[in-house]
Amino acid sequence: MTTPASLTQDELKTLVGQAALQYVVPGEIVGVGTGSTVNKFIDALASMKDSIKGAVSSSTASTQRLQQLGIPVFDANEVESLSVYIDGADEIDGSGYMVKGGGAALTREKIVAALAKRFVCIADASKRVEALGGFPLPVEVIPMATSQIQRRFAAMGGEATVRLKDGSPLVTDNGQHILDVRGLVIRDPLAFESAVNQWPGVVTVGVFAHQRAHVCLLGTAQGVETLS
Ligand code: 5RP
Repeated sequence: MTTPASLTQDELKTLVGQAALQYVVPGEIVGVGTGSTVNKFIDALASMKDSIKGAVSSSTASTQRLQQLGIPVFDANEVESLSVYIDGADEIDGSGYMVKGGGAALTREKIVAALAKRFVCIADASKRVEALGGFPLPVEVIPMATSQIQRRFAAMGGEATVRLKDGSPLVTDNGQHILDVRGLVIRDPLAFESAVNQWPGVVTVGVFAHQRAHVCLLGTAQGVETLS
């Protein structure tokens, strides 16, 4: 194990991106998430592109990066199951429960993760938390339901704001909007995810508890720690 005491956050992301290659099964299709840490994984994956069939991607951004590196991208509908899905997180707790969606790709991330037998989370140590909720919780919503969903979060002590891009509501790959919810403490991630998913107009809540990470490769000052 390397001892990267002086590595930057970006270098830690590179380290875990490379470490994730050990979970890629030769001859198969790999599930690929979204974000700056996953970008490091995609770059590393290029080194073994001739020994995999390709990837199923969770965003147009990841699809473009994969294709630019010559890695074939399959539609999720062409694939019945994946051995592994590799993705980052905004927060991860000791049970492998995560908050995701900082890159607005949470819905497709859940769809691809649902195809996979194993979820491998790659993250730098700053993402490890005791309890979820410090990072503003992303929720993809259908725009006509925005106000009622904001009121529901307010009733539980959360402040939900529409994520903006260049002064206008950000539009996801699915044509919907993102609410970022501050002020929540998510004590029971499984129950919370189930409950919010039932609200009319919620496309996807960014708590990944029912699809928790089975393995987490955490980039720390001591090197890559494997939590499972
Ligand atoms: C995108 C995500 C990302 O995995 C999450 O935001 C972490 O991103 P990064 O690796 O850039 O910190 O959920 O929707």
